[in-house]
Amino acid sequence: MRSSVTTGLALACLMALAAAGAPALAADVDADAAQALIKKNDCGKCHSLDREKKAPSWKKIASKNKGKPDIEEKFIKHLTTSPKVKLDDGTEEEHKAINTKDVAAIKNLIAWVLSR
Ligand code: HEC
Repeated sequence: MRSSVTTGLALACLMALAAAGAPALAADVDADAAQALIKKNDCGKCHSLDREKKAPSWKKIASKNKGKPDIEEKFIKHLTTSPKVKLDDGTEEEHKAINTKDVAAIKNLIAWVLSR
């Protein structure tokens, strides 16, 4: 008896080649992670999705800033350096600094805000 069972390998090679060129999605936002971070930091005390509270809504921030070239960098700074901001009632205070040093998480949060 002779068996020549040497098939299947060629097919596997072709499939590997086809998968190699898939591009990464640039605007891939993890909405759950972003909202969890917002909740954990009490950002909702001043910001809401579409209502003006003490601060502009996420939608307003998005429509004002979407597509600006240095916006990610600017917002990272905004969220990590506690700049003075004016609240809707006219009082001034330092903006809340986010309680994480995880830049990827902050960038994801910013991407979420800008996609509202
Ligand atoms: C005590 C109220 C308050 C809290 C809490 C707060 N913010 Fe703000 N935020 C403001 C105000 C007021 C502005 C508007 C500042 C301005 O336009 O000068 C602002 C502006 C912003 C902006 C836009 C900045 C810009 O340059 O236009 C972003 C983004 C932002 N906040 C994100 C957050 C995030 C994320 C959190 C939670 C970590 C948070 N904020 C918590 C009051 C608050």
